Amino acid sequence: MTVTGLEGIEVTQSAISSIIDGTLTYRGINIDDLATYSSYEEVIFLLWNGRLPIQKELEDLKLKLVQYGTLPDPITNLLKSLPHDVHPMDKLRTTLSALSLFDTHVKDMSREANYDKALKIQSKISTIVAAIQRISEGQEILLPKSEYNFSQNFLYMLKGKEPHQTAVESLDKALILHADHELNASTFSARVTVATLADIYAGIVSAIGTLSGPLHGGANEAVMKMLEEINDIENIEPYISEALFTNKKIMGFGHRVYKTGDPRAKHLKRMSEKLTILTGQRKLYDISTRIETIIKNKKGLLPNVDFYSASVYQSLGIKKELFTPIFAISRTSGWTAHILEQYDNNRLIRPRATYVGLLRTEYIPISQR
Ligand code: COA
Repeated sequence: MTVTGLEGIEVTQSAISSIIDGTLTYRGINIDDLATYSSYEEVIFLLWNGRLPIQKELEDLKLKLVQYGTLPDPITNLLKSLPHDVHPMDKLRTTLSALSLFDTHVKDMSREANYDKALKIQSKISTIVAAIQRISEGQEILLPKSEYNFSQNFLYMLKGKEPHQTAVESLDKALILHADHELNASTFSARVTVATLADIYAGIVSAIGTLSGPLHGGANEAVMKMLEEINDIENIEPYISEALFTNKKIMGFGHRVYKTGDPRAKHLKRMSEKLTILTGQRKLYDISTRIETIIKNKKGLLPNVDFYSASVYQSLGIKKELFTPIFAISRTSGWTAHILEQYDNNRLIRPRATYVGLLRTEYIPISQR
């Protein structure tokens, strides 16, 4: 039997994150608790090691994330040479692929080496995304500072100044909420790729490519475009009616797994309210909540993680083209956790297709076609 989109099919065992009765956990810990009490670095450690770190382990991880944040000169030059008008996700995918060429341990498949590469990728991806933005503004590339945490460093590298504490806390929470999500499309891509025993970079490059689509990570940018197009409360009804009439999907709504609501959305909604008020952009939140009500009433669909993250990132002064790359920074912890888990207990992933094409077709020589 063919199951299109592999809907509901369990294709691997995993002990990393679970979605059970609408509750999301990382290593068994409810994301509500992680979003409230934890830090992104702690979540990275949790995903990779299956338990929370003790203080020394956390400090070591933070230090490594800063130390590994530099880029080889050829990568900096590559970033500067990329066409200005291509999307940051495409620049990120290309740069991650190139980065593998400068890692002398790329083909070392020991667990220790792969764990260390996961650390490097996690660190450098943040520098790269910030660098993509800085270069597009004609600014110098900045590197992480040892006195800053991961989120602080990203905002510092992006903006070139010490970020506000509220912005740091908000970004950190957003990174925690996006860090892992069971066998989502990009994580599946990463696992399929490394299940051939391709290297960890190949897995991340596959994942970035998969995340970029609007049905997956690209939805947060698409939500922002929609909010900009609507722009005013009075435009909402006609915009949504027209979209639904023409069978267009409303970005940021619906989910393959959650049918009673995405447990991450409520956190982002609260953050959106707080941040849009703080930054004088309350209209964005008001438009968003109105869309939420209309879509719920007309289609019975609820917002997913991407819907309110758009207004959150917008309030942090981040350009919409960077929303999905920031998702990639966060999801790198999950991707790498899944890659390590795949290597630990590997079997080639090779499903079948139900053949529906022509049978016994005669070969006609080219001169007779
Ligand atoms: N807007 C309007 N209608 C939607 C919708 C949306 N965002 N999401 C789902 N639907 C409708 C579909 O049109 C379909 O209706 P039909 O049965 O009348 O044809 C039905 O709901 C089922 O949708 P389907 O696309 O088959 O579900 P899926 O499980 O394949 O897709 C998503 C899940 C996430 C891809 C889908 O909800 C979507 O495209 N959402 C918008 C993009 C998005 O926000 N992606 C981020 C996900 S975290």
